[in-house]
Amino acid sequence: MNQKWIVANYPTGPVQTDDLTYTSSLLPPLAENMIRVRTIYLSIDPTNRVWLLKKDTYLPSIELGDVMRGVCIGKVEESNHSHYKPGDLVQGMWGWQTYHISNGDDLIPLPILPALPLTAHFGLLGHVGISAWYGMLEIGKPSAGETVVISAASGAVGSLAGQIAKMQGARVVGIAGSEEKCRRITQDLHFDSAINYTKESVAESLKKHCPNGIDVYFDNVGGQLLDTVLESINDFGRIVACGMISMYNYPNQGITFTNLGNLVMRRVLLKGFICLDHWEYAEQVYTDLIKWHQQGKLHYQVDVVHGLENAPSALQMLFDGANKGKLMIKVSEENE
Ligand SMILES: NC(=O)c1ccc[n+]([C@@H]2O[C@H](COP(=O)([O-])OP(=O)(O)OC[C@H]3O[C@@H](n4cnc5c(N)ncnc54)[C@H](OP(=O)(O)O)[C@@H]3O)[C@@H](O)[C@H]2O)c1
Repeated sequence: MNQKWIVANYPTGPVQTDDLTYTSSLLPPLAENMIRVRTIYLSIDPTNRVWLLKKDTYLPSIELGDVMRGVCIGKVEESNHSHYKPGDLVQGMWGWQTYHISNGDDLIPLPILPALPLTAHFGLLGHVGISAWYGMLEIGKPSAGETVVISAASGAVGSLAGQIAKMQGARVVGIAGSEEKCRRITQDLHFDSAINYTKESVAESLKKHCPNGIDVYFDNVGGQLLDTVLESINDFGRIVACGMISMYNYPNQGITFTNLGNLVMRRVLLKGFICLDHWEYAEQVYTDLIKWHQQGKLHYQVDVVHGLENAPSALQMLFDGANKGKLMIKVSEENE
């Protein structure tokens, strides 16, 4: 049996229980040249909410009745395909389901990483690692002594991006939603300071923690916070528009921009990116991230929720700030 989550409605606001339906179907016998993959891990990402919009974004909108889209890691269980054999580990976007039948075109063989657990493919590498590396080094480009601010700083992408900026010699200030997260980024990850946006005036705290202004803003949040940061952006500053999680549940909310003019007056670069466009960097990114991790300079944290049935409630954790590190679902055991 294949267990799966089907998109029943396009949510308005946070995903509700009737927006996704948990169901199952019989797996057909495997045809010639086909591969059956068992899902081991399913990545839960803020962009899952973007994919539930009724309109196309950087990927087409999911049709009602289709399996919910998601990035997965799995193991080949049965193969009639010459390039894949049982036991091979693969990654792909086959979505919120326990099995996937593929002709191989949508599978990426996973590189063997002897010193790292399978979860590192989501927590350190893959879309999270490429986003942090590409966004910080190819767009933000901080140099020694510059000030870098990061929002959702304790999260999967933000925590890596901040550590990468530290390695460039920058002063790094993180914005996060709890005292525990602020402690983690300053004490464990050696950010220079942290701002708890639930307790402090971010505008005031930015002035205190960034006395020389902000040279790079790595934005994971968007919305009103972006405007607040724009107030303190320096001449020739760079804003890395990585994500806008504060706007995903409420894309039509009104935001009052009072500092937008600073983009012009201070000659600021604001650039968005989608990691899928930059997969050609994967080899270089993986080499760097694995090396830095092994040298003890780059730490990552994973937050594993057990059971595919919990995927919708896990998704909500990202919007409540309840996740501690890269969120994923353990769908089945690695060595089943
Ligand atoms: N461009 C790309 O290709 C790409 C790829 C991957 C991810 N992203 C983006 O990167 C961002 C972070 O993703 P992630 O996977 O690393 O998730 P994450 O940071 O591990 O988790 C999301 C975090 O966002 C914070 N948050 C949620 N709602 C918020 C709000 N209204 N205001 C301020 N903070 C809020 C919460 O932390 P607090 O407790 O600190 O609030 C939450 O823990 C997202 O915007 C995502 O879309 C972009």
